[in-house]
Amino acid sequence: MFPFLKLTDETITLRPYEFGEENELHRAVQQSLPELKPWMVWANEDYSVEVARNFIALTRAQWSGGVMYAFAVTDAQTGEFLGGCSLSHMHPVYHFCNLGYWVRSARRGEGIAGRAAKLAAKFAFERIKLIRAEIVIAAGNEASRRVAEKTGAHYEGLLLNRMVIGKEIYDAHMYSLLPSDFGLPAKL
Ligand SMILES: CC(C)(COP(=O)(O)OP(=O)(O)OC[C@H]1O[C@@H](n2cnc3c(N)ncnc32)[C@H](O)[C@@H]1OP(=O)(O)O)[C@@H](O)C(=O)NCCC(=O)NCCS
Repeated sequence: MFPFLKLTDETITLRPYEFGEENELHRAVQQSLPELKPWMVWANEDYSVEVARNFIALTRAQWSGGVMYAFAVTDAQTGEFLGGCSLSHMHPVYHFCNLGYWVRSARRGEGIAGRAAKLAAKFAFERIKLIRAEIVIAAGNEASRRVAEKTGAHYEGLLLNRMVIGKEIYDAHMYSLLPSDFGLPAKL
């Protein structure tokens, strides 16, 4: 378990989702569906305010239990909701996790996903003491690959039948971020 906190690089701020922002989350997801739907299993027309509310409650419970650390990505100056970034699938033995991100369509192309990935990965290494964060990207998601490349993540290859989105099976590109990428030691 790790207490709630804010992470910022002065351009964006990552913080836990807050009760009461389900309408904004719902709006951002619905407005971004054309870009989200091909790649995010949870993004579809059935994404309602209630789904958003339940998600917020779940993320807060899972944060408290150290199961998943889901961040709302917000504009550091205005507080506008920009998207989401999460550390999930914590490996109980090998100390690594999955790192995921999405950005609302209206704010794409500003380098927000990469900023979020760096803040979340640094948190994973500094505070949760993980030794590796994996960015697993379905084949064909070139924008996300570009984010991983720009972030300086290590490309480790194409994993076969690694991902299912809807009813489609995808190969997936594996990228990793390590503590050493942030000048940090990998410590158990
Ligand atoms: C992928 C995503 C997170 C990118 O977020 P972002 O904050 O807009 O990222 P960036 O500002 O770095 O822009 C994306 C980069 O990909 C490039 N790009 C976008 N579409 C592309 C395409 N079809 N082919 C190649 N490159 C593409 C952009 O040109 C940009 O690169 P540049 O800075 O060198 O010009 C966002 O588009 C998104 O939320 N997509 C849907 C959800 C998703 O796929 N999440 C990742 C799951 S692994």
